[in-house]
Amino acid sequence: MSAPLLTLVDLHKAYEVNNTAVSALRGIHLSVARGAIVGIIGKSGAGKSTLIRSINLLERPTKGSVIFDGQDLKTLTNENLRKVRQQMGMIFQHFNLLSSRTVFQNAALPLELQGLKKSEITNRVMPLLELVGLSGRLDYFPEQLSGGQKQRVAIARALALRPQLLLCDEATSALDPESTRAILNLLKQINQEMGLTIVLITHAMDVIKQICDQVGVIDEGQLVEWGEVVEVFANPQHPVTQRLIGQVVQWELPENLQPQVRSQQTAGLHLLVRLTFVNNSAKTPLISHIHERFGVTVNILQADLEYIHGNSLGFMLCQLIGTSQDIDKALHYLTEHSVKSEAMGYV
Ligand SMILES: Nc1ncnc2c1ncn2[C@@H]1O[C@H](COP(=O)(O)OP(=O)(O)O)[C@@H](O)[C@H]1O
Ligand SMILES: [Mg+2]
Repeated sequence: MSAPLLTLVDLHKAYEVNNTAVSALRGIHLSVARGAIVGIIGKSGAGKSTLIRSINLLERPTKGSVIFDGQDLKTLTNENLRKVRQQMGMIFQHFNLLSSRTVFQNAALPLELQGLKKSEITNRVMPLLELVGLSGRLDYFPEQLSGGQKQRVAIARALALRPQLLLCDEATSALDPESTRAILNLLKQINQEMGLTIVLITHAMDVIKQICDQVGVIDEGQLVEWGEVVEVFANPQHPVTQRLIGQVVQWELPENLQPQVRSQQTAGLHLLVRLTFVNNSAKTPLISHIHERFGVTVNILQADLEYIHGNSLGFMLCQLIGTSQDIDKALHYLTEHSVKSEAMGYV
């Protein structure tokens, strides 16, 4: 295992507002492996933008360290910090393009600021604009582009200095679903072809689901959950994570069912369980097995099958109908086959 590209150690940030400290980050620990796509998700005000701006020290942490490529950024001289920042490209929700410059000129800007020769700038910018699919739009101005195209220009500009890390602050939040998908696919392609490490922040769980390897959930300035995306979807621990996952998978009790659920069993009510399947178990006919072997009938109320990075992930809400002994045996059998079951009450 090579050393992580980025490590945040006990990162704190407090803003001073009217002589009072407003705490935005409260002790974040986080490691980003080289070549990974890491997503940070949380509600508005959770501290996401503060976190991503702390990575390149656009915000100075109040306490804690940012270790990038083995260097503690707080210890660097301004000159060396500038060099390190060139290793970190950044894209934003509102693209931040210069309206008076063309597509080519926007993408070329970082190289101009470096003082590169015109021919060299052209040699470097053209393949990037090719990569993002804009080589036919070199002389367009930002106002002549769609949102997705503007973000493509911003991506080309962010890659111009050949960074190791790309920071994305809500980069798809201003885009429609189709452009969002296309931009996320482009980021994935760049990650795979160029080995670029990506940290993205978002409030949308479908963004995490589509391209991230690991996910961190931030709430009130703290990292309340962290793990491989499939693991976190299959086994969310924190209530904030559970709510966010409910945005994209049918995981929670449907609203029309909630008033009918009782916590005690009475005559005519059946156990309500949520089953979570990962990979193989989603392909095995376990439901018919528990009927054949234990005489337990499964009445499916809601089911959802998702694919995340080639893993299948299934959620099923069902009533189990049978004697309590048989149901216990059936639940044990499911556990043995790596199906998680959670009793949700009686209905
Ligand atoms: N420049 C600032 N000055 C004072 N408070 C700020 C500043 N930036 C953010 N905050 C506060 O820090 C908290 C986290 O904000 P932010 O990082 O922007 O969250 P998010 O991006 O998740 O919406 C919020 O309470 C916000 O009001
Ligand atoms: Mg923000």
